[in-house]
Amino acid sequence: MTHILAIDQGTTSSRAILFDENMGVAHVAQQEFTQIYPQSGWVEHDVEEIWDSVVSVCNDVVAKSDDIAAIGITNQRETTIVWNRETGKPIHNAIVWQDRRTAAFCDELKAEGFEAEITQRTGLLADPYFSATKVRYILQTVEGAQEMADAGKLAFGTVDSFLIWRMNGGKRHVTDATNAARTMLYNIRDGVWDETICKRFNIPMSMLPEVLDCAADFGTTDMFGPELPILGVAGDQQAATIGQACFEPGMLKSTYGTGCFALLNTGDELVMSKNRLLGTIAYQLDGKATYALEGSIFIAGAVVQWLRDGLGIIDDAKDTHALAEKADLSVELYLVPAFTGLGAPYWDAEARGAIFGLTRNAGPAEFARAALESVGFQTRDLLEAMHADWSGAANGTLRVDGGMSASDWAMQFLADIIGAPVDRPKVLETTALGAAWLAGMRAGVYPTQDAFAKTWALERKFSPVMSAADKDRRFAGWKDAINRTKT
Ligand code: G3P
Repeated sequence: MTHILAIDQGTTSSRAILFDENMGVAHVAQQEFTQIYPQSGWVEHDVEEIWDSVVSVCNDVVAKSDDIAAIGITNQRETTIVWNRETGKPIHNAIVWQDRRTAAFCDELKAEGFEAEITQRTGLLADPYFSATKVRYILQTVEGAQEMADAGKLAFGTVDSFLIWRMNGGKRHVTDATNAARTMLYNIRDGVWDETICKRFNIPMSMLPEVLDCAADFGTTDMFGPELPILGVAGDQQAATIGQACFEPGMLKSTYGTGCFALLNTGDELVMSKNRLLGTIAYQLDGKATYALEGSIFIAGAVVQWLRDGLGIIDDAKDTHALAEKADLSVELYLVPAFTGLGAPYWDAEARGAIFGLTRNAGPAEFARAALESVGFQTRDLLEAMHADWSGAANGTLRVDGGMSASDWAMQFLADIIGAPVDRPKVLETTALGAAWLAGMRAGVYPTQDAFAKTWALERKFSPVMSAADKDRRFAGWKDAINRTKT
């Protein structure tokens, strides 16, 4: 058996990717599912629809091979599922990471001074982004839920945990350290669920899954025919960090999907950010956590979707850079895509998008350029915060992946505005590759960590060419736009 099935359960679609013995992509199946917006700022997923989509893409891919050694899972992080242990049914839709409904409660936590406790223990900030306040919301609003939870009848998990539980018929309630690290309930210093935080949120610890390394025995499943072991699990941004082989302290990757998530490997050191970045677990292998500083931006690729679906100025996302190239350079537009507030390093949940610098000659090309540039500017914000936080963040190379990294134009602007090289790898399926490698390494069919790192191959390097004066002027323009957008 030499192939690995990677399941990538993302925010807008579920994918199954079959990797061959050389870690090459052999087959891919993908299925989108419904985004549910019950109110402004609320985002939910139907758990059964997620489940059906995962089963369907896996069946597609498994039918192509009878040579699968193991399964690796990677997933949208933080998204919260609470289910009944007896019936196996979720008691509420999944509350998605983007959902802001618990913002008022997070403000209360800040007002009472509890945010410092949270940061100290979990590396995170008191923000609705993470799972903890979503679990509390479900327990408080679903009739009888708190009592059932107290009686040990309910289980909580991020998407990985729920999928594994279903896949092995309810035998294992487990997760991995990277997903646990995003719940705001997990003490990432001590590697245990945090009693103080669970108490404050009235979340019984019996609801929580067992936390394992990223490469471990997560249980088996026979739902695709022969019994297959699940041997690798990591949250999607951590899986991309692994897939990009960012194994040395100081190595940095940025993934451009719906949002953008930059992770800087800080090795054994849990860096406490003074600039509102997050401390998190990059991966945990052989019982040892490697930490990262993370900058999370909520809108990156989604700004291109907005050009397409909101403004209707492009038909296809890949037309964006051709349009941007036609922009009149004398028009300097600044688009702040705070559609769902601002993430790191501003964390302003109430801010909304804005555009500055409009003139009579601003048209679709200038909007397209401003949209792509906003992603570069936001990335520089994150990198500046990283440099300010940690001396190990030398002004090094940024490894990129995700849909928008395919745009040469956007990547050149990114290199220009951060003033550092941007490396795009040959394999852009880095998230799925990370999950596949964890499982394949554990199964003994893929190389060890060092040998895997050597397989990383460069497709194209983007070196900065913009003059220092232009770079500073443009970034000052962005900062001004941000200051005028913040609440
Ligand atoms: O923290 C949220 C992140 O894990 C979502 O990633 O790629 O599903 O948008 P993605």
